[in-house]
Amino acid sequence: MTSEHGSDSKAPKQIANVMNETRVFPPSGEFSRNASIGSMQAYESIYNHSIADTEKFWESQAREHLHWFEPFTKTLDWQEPFAQWFLGGKTNVSYNCLDAHVQAGRGDRVAFHWEGEPGDTRTITYAELTKEVSRFASALSKLGIQKGDRVSIYMPMVPELPVAMLACARIGAIHSVIFGGFSAEAIADRNNDAQAKLVITADGGWRRGKLLALKQTVDEALAKSPSVEHCIVLRRAGNETKMHAGRDLWWHELTANQPDDFPAVALDSEDPLFILYTSGSTGKPKGIKHTTAGYNLYAKRTFEWVFDHKPDQDIFWCTADCGWITGHSYIVYGPLSAGATQVLYEGAPNWPAEDRFWELIEKYKVTILYTAPTAIRAFIKWGDHHVEKHDLSSLRLLGSVGEGINPEAWMWYYNKIGGGRCPIVDTWWQTETGGIMMSPLPGAIACKPGSCTKPLPGIIPRVLHADLTDVGTNEGGMLCIEKPWPGMLRGVWGDDERFNETYWKRVPHMYLTGDNARCDEDGYYWIMGRIDDVINVSGHRLSTIEIESALVSHPSVAEAAAVGRPDEIKGQGIAVFVTLKNHAPDESIRDELKKHVRKEIGALAVPDEIRFTTMLPKTRSGKIMRRLLRDIASGKQSVQDTSTLEDFSVLAKLRGDEEG
Ligand code: WT7
Repeated sequence: MTSEHGSDSKAPKQIANVMNETRVFPPSGEFSRNASIGSMQAYESIYNHSIADTEKFWESQAREHLHWFEPFTKTLDWQEPFAQWFLGGKTNVSYNCLDAHVQAGRGDRVAFHWEGEPGDTRTITYAELTKEVSRFASALSKLGIQKGDRVSIYMPMVPELPVAMLACARIGAIHSVIFGGFSAEAIADRNNDAQAKLVITADGGWRRGKLLALKQTVDEALAKSPSVEHCIVLRRAGNETKMHAGRDLWWHELTANQPDDFPAVALDSEDPLFILYTSGSTGKPKGIKHTTAGYNLYAKRTFEWVFDHKPDQDIFWCTADCGWITGHSYIVYGPLSAGATQVLYEGAPNWPAEDRFWELIEKYKVTILYTAPTAIRAFIKWGDHHVEKHDLSSLRLLGSVGEGINPEAWMWYYNKIGGGRCPIVDTWWQTETGGIMMSPLPGAIACKPGSCTKPLPGIIPRVLHADLTDVGTNEGGMLCIEKPWPGMLRGVWGDDERFNETYWKRVPHMYLTGDNARCDEDGYYWIMGRIDDVINVSGHRLSTIEIESALVSHPSVAEAAAVGRPDEIKGQGIAVFVTLKNHAPDESIRDELKKHVRKEIGALAVPDEIRFTTMLPKTRSGKIMRRLLRDIASGKQSVQDTSTLEDFSVLAKLRGDEEG
């Protein structure tokens, strides 16, 4: 929608850069020596080579890093905005993730160290995972699921979730994973949009010690999902579960007598692999479509580059849920293609206590931790003593994804979790991009707190003014991507017009990310938030992240969200919502925070209004929902879609807080 990236022709051209972060953290000599890309020269040589001819670069990557049942004959067919990669080739993502390792004699390597929230555990090797996926793929196939059919998956974080995804991939069925916290309504919307034939779920799952009766929610959704013929139910929690005769089938009964060598089907490079729904601002779910070979290649190579992955040494833990793109690309398809050993955890970070993550890192000797700023801010709030109880010396690399990381949160992560020795890869990407687009390569690129640093090989970012001219150094503007890349979305399910409108129409011949960014004098990129979130104060366009980072750098602030609200004189004023760490919400701290922002950024960015709240409204994936806060700050009753809100009571509480 153009409205999602609406421009204001009277606004000044550039977005002001008011953040002044000068700290630089190069990797240690030891880290660089052991890294596969271990110097800035090495990065630059790969990068420059890759962009000199992107098609040639991706062609050789694809020939070398995927298994082909039949080699491809054409690298790219680009009928803007529709890309097709590696045409004529036949491959299978499940084969690349599983069989390829078993064939190469790596079947005994552990794929997952799984830990359930109640403390039950399972260790699964690549050989075992391959067999389990085979049995389930065979069962799906006997149930009549065919190539191209859509399958919704609504499960807790148990090993059978990746098994179900990989089994779909094995037979060419298109999965749509729905995060296990969504409502019946949201499941039904997604089933209907995709015309799903099958739903895979579990009786229940565990979250903060509570049992979530997933099958019960699915039953409600299925009453409104006419396309769904069957529902497969995994026995996970053992809670009493009603089975609908003829429609519902138990996972264990279905797989009991299936062959464990069911072959992976040779699929076309562009056969769809999955649909993943994102919450658009219109409320209608938007099914982002990814396909087979290009996505697989991109997830695999970006995983290897960014995490400097060493198959025989690393224990990788991505704390995302498989229901998000981060779980698809960096739990399932990237790491498994690369033969990684991972930790998979079912539950919450604060169950049974607020040190659960640190306990797991110590227990499994995790070497690489990949988590989100929202979690990091929660850890800071919970206190350092939870961290200090545990030995985290196995860690060698840290990662962040999902939102900008405020420099002060970055410093805490670096010092308290990384012991000052682990580089932090701040990875910028989107559901739509399929994999990481910008990030430090940790052995090569020095980190700056708050910057996602540089583009990965083959990726060419451009930052443009609203009038489509290029910005200068340190000027903020719309972040676009110049050339197609293999991991890019191939469309919006059933809605080519929306695909075109949202990503391709506003800026000709480039992919529009919807984010603002600036590039500094060292060629480092700084993401400045969503285009729609820019605040226009007296003609100065300010990005939310910079105001928020200034607030978070105050010792009493745990989290902050900044939004614009109408102001007769200035055009827009700044309202901020603040969660405090260790201070009562009174006038003294309000004054102090205003002074602090004045000192950190300048008078221009001083909030007109500071509201205190115990919690900020977030999406289920942990992103602050600024558009809702915007309505609250401008006194508008929100009429927007709230189906992705983590906690409705948070909103009600904020609306009730008229004290301002
Ligand atoms: C949006 C994409 C990336 C996978 C998980 C979220 C924001 C993401 C960063 C980062 C600043 C970031 C952007 C982006 N975002 N990573 N490292 N720094 N902002 O996927 O739900 O599709 O969200 O998340 O605004 O456009 P998503």
